Amino acid sequence: MSDEKNEKLTDHDYDGIQELDNSLPQWWLGLLYLTLLFGAGYYCYYELGSGPSIQDEFASEVAAMESKKTAAPPSLFPEMPKLVAYQTSAEKLAVGKTVFQNRCVSCHGDKGQGLIGPNLTDDYWIHGDGKIGAIAKVVHDGVLDKGMPPWVTLLTDEELYSVTAYVKSLRGTNPAGAKASQGNLVKE
Ligand code: HEC
Repeated sequence: MSDEKNEKLTDHDYDGIQELDNSLPQWWLGLLYLTLLFGAGYYCYYELGSGPSIQDEFASEVAAMESKKTAAPPSLFPEMPKLVAYQTSAEKLAVGKTVFQNRCVSCHGDKGQGLIGPNLTDDYWIHGDGKIGAIAKVVHDGVLDKGMPPWVTLLTDEELYSVTAYVKSLRGTNPAGAKASQGNLVKE
């Protein structure tokens, strides 16, 4: 047996089996201390400090998901300020009216009262909540399988937002010969 081994030899003797006092490898100890440090930090932050509980994290994820559901469609979101401004601009509403007369009356009627397409003047909406963002989305994307074209490829941005603002302004106008309501009642 080498000298090095002799130094490490303990005086334990189990039926002739002897024990060496090997020190633990550095990398192993390093890992152990790291996990201890991490554990202490974790305990302080989550148990003693302000770290969020599992319930808090769940609640904030649910809230984030809910707000995404009600938010304007992402592709149009940057245009929201424009959409809102167009609603009060006589000039843009006039552009919107012209677009509507040229492009939409064949299906929605000359006053938006509904024909092949649904009535756009009532409080009932098949798609979304009747707010400006929801109208913009359905005009933008269309509903191809129901016969509503996606106008994004057919109109300029200005025309699309103008006609959206115009459609929004039709709500509550109560035109004669209006088509029966379709979809869900949405209060302003
Ligand atoms: C070829 C026919 C057609 C044309 C043209 C058309 N639409 Fe539509 N539109 C439809 C149909 C059909 C629906 C209903 C879709 C459904 O049932 O899902 C609809 C739905 C809509 C809706 C959603 C209504 C709701 O209750 O959710 C809006 C808003 C709308 N159209 C706006 C327009 C605008 C603005 C134009 C012109 C730029 C236009 N549409 C042109 C057929 C048309």
